[in-house]
Amino acid sequence: MQVYLSADDPSDVSAAALVVPFFSERPLEGVTKEIDAANGGVIAEALASGEIRGKLGDHVLAYAKDRPYRRVLAISLGDRATFEPYLLGRFAGSAVRYLGRRNVEKIAIVLPPQAKGREAICASFVAEGAITGSFDTTIYQEKPERRLATSAVAILGKGFDAAKVDRGIARGSALGEAVNLARRLAVTPANDMTPTRMAEEASKIAKTTGLEIDVLDEARARSEGMGSFLSVAAGSIQPPKFIVLRYNGDPSSKELLALVGKGITFDTGGISIKPAERMEDMKYDMSGGAGVLAAMSAIGTLKPKLNVVGIVPTTENMPGGKATKPGDIVKAMNGKTIEVINTDAEGRLILADALCYANKLGATKIVDAATLTGACVIALGHASSAAVTNDDAFVAQFLAAAKPTGERYWQMPYYDDYTTQMKSDIADLKNTGGRAAGTLTAAAFLREFVGSTPWVHLDIAGTAYLDTESPWQAKGPTGTPVRAFLSLVEALSHPERGTESKDAPGNGARTEELRV
Ligand code: BES
Ligand code: MN
Ligand code: ZN
Repeated sequence: MQVYLSADDPSDVSAAALVVPFFSERPLEGVTKEIDAANGGVIAEALASGEIRGKLGDHVLAYAKDRPYRRVLAISLGDRATFEPYLLGRFAGSAVRYLGRRNVEKIAIVLPPQAKGREAICASFVAEGAITGSFDTTIYQEKPERRLATSAVAILGKGFDAAKVDRGIARGSALGEAVNLARRLAVTPANDMTPTRMAEEASKIAKTTGLEIDVLDEARARSEGMGSFLSVAAGSIQPPKFIVLRYNGDPSSKELLALVGKGITFDTGGISIKPAERMEDMKYDMSGGAGVLAAMSAIGTLKPKLNVVGIVPTTENMPGGKATKPGDIVKAMNGKTIEVINTDAEGRLILADALCYANKLGATKIVDAATLTGACVIALGHASSAAVTNDDAFVAQFLAAAKPTGERYWQMPYYDDYTTQMKSDIADLKNTGGRAAGTLTAAAFLREFVGSTPWVHLDIAGTAYLDTESPWQAKGPTGTPVRAFLSLVEALSHPERGTESKDAPGNGARTEELRV
């Protein structure tokens, strides 16, 4: 998918469709009003008659066969008062999915008047949404019934700051491609997306974006003392890989952000085996790891001024003859011993060593993302990820950076009661703490391996993949947490640029301008 800036006037842009925004409140305004007036007022009519109400994603398609743009697709941005730039991603994604299915190859998108003054962030969302909207889920079909045809999106910049639009397009394109990369890694089934394949994908990213890469094999992981990570790999014939990607964007600084992602390429539960129902979804159990690899690829492309290391411990969790058994005791890199009560609580076991390794590499801040607990889906459903921290200032910074991206994170508490729940009678820790507060006992377990480094843990079990589609997004993997990761990196690389405007219209803070 190609997204680019066009200086053409909307009324004489040549495309297969012109996409214009509107709000639920009438009357139409700006370019949308002019274009509609030139085409007999079909859109105004549809709104006035109540045929559509203008909910986010509602649309009207009108043919304009004598015009160079041939079709007008009006898509609603919802209520004007609650407009936020990230909705433009949904707007553009809806356009691409609707028109792409109808074989439309080239489209032109009009920005709403609200983009004035924040062209970069708005264009970024349009580019990101157009690209993520075009995500192809038919990669395993020999003759797919239909593939999305849209391959070129022009953003009409007339009346806007062209330099900012261009900057936004570059940022949004890199992000959109990264989100799709994370989704492709996640949707690829576990017979293909093995730990070895994850490492190959990481090498490709390193090569194309100029990152350093180190992949620890089993022997090296053992010599590092990663007994917790290796205990999960024991039951599988697939060799585990411990992937480290490094980006040195600020060599004079000692600051190092570590992004850590759970990379279980398939989670059977191990000896504590899972029931068959929906077990196939456990190919998605490497979504956190995919998010880290993809975020590193966007970082390598956009080159922010920050040092970042991406760490992805990756293995299958299988019930083989050499598998770890309930009751076994293993030792993590920091010397702590863990009684494995339930081999299905494997994510925390691989992350324990990855968090230790982040500290060994000198991380000054750590964020991990993992499809860690079913309890998180019970608590928050598919509407939000959970965030747990050992550092209130850092989580506030993370949440502020994540909010304008449209990805949702809801902070949940840490209390030492949860740590108490994780104490073993026989080892330092056990890997499960009972049914109560499953997401938070898992986080309390991880906390034992981060030391005093400011850390945010993200449980993305309910948000990494969805089994419902939306107008702007195919069902399946969502690319969470790539957007939040990139936004955090941008915030940390430009701490001097305040971006939140508390008194902005709409709900809460919004990003005024990109930080890249
Ligand atoms: N990968 C699962 C968590 C999961 C469940 C993600 C459903 C997405 C959807 C994780 O490894 C797991 O099995 N967690 C257990 C922990 C329990 C044994 C303490 C769980 O949540 O049941
Ligand atoms: Mn599990
Ligand atoms: Zn798992």
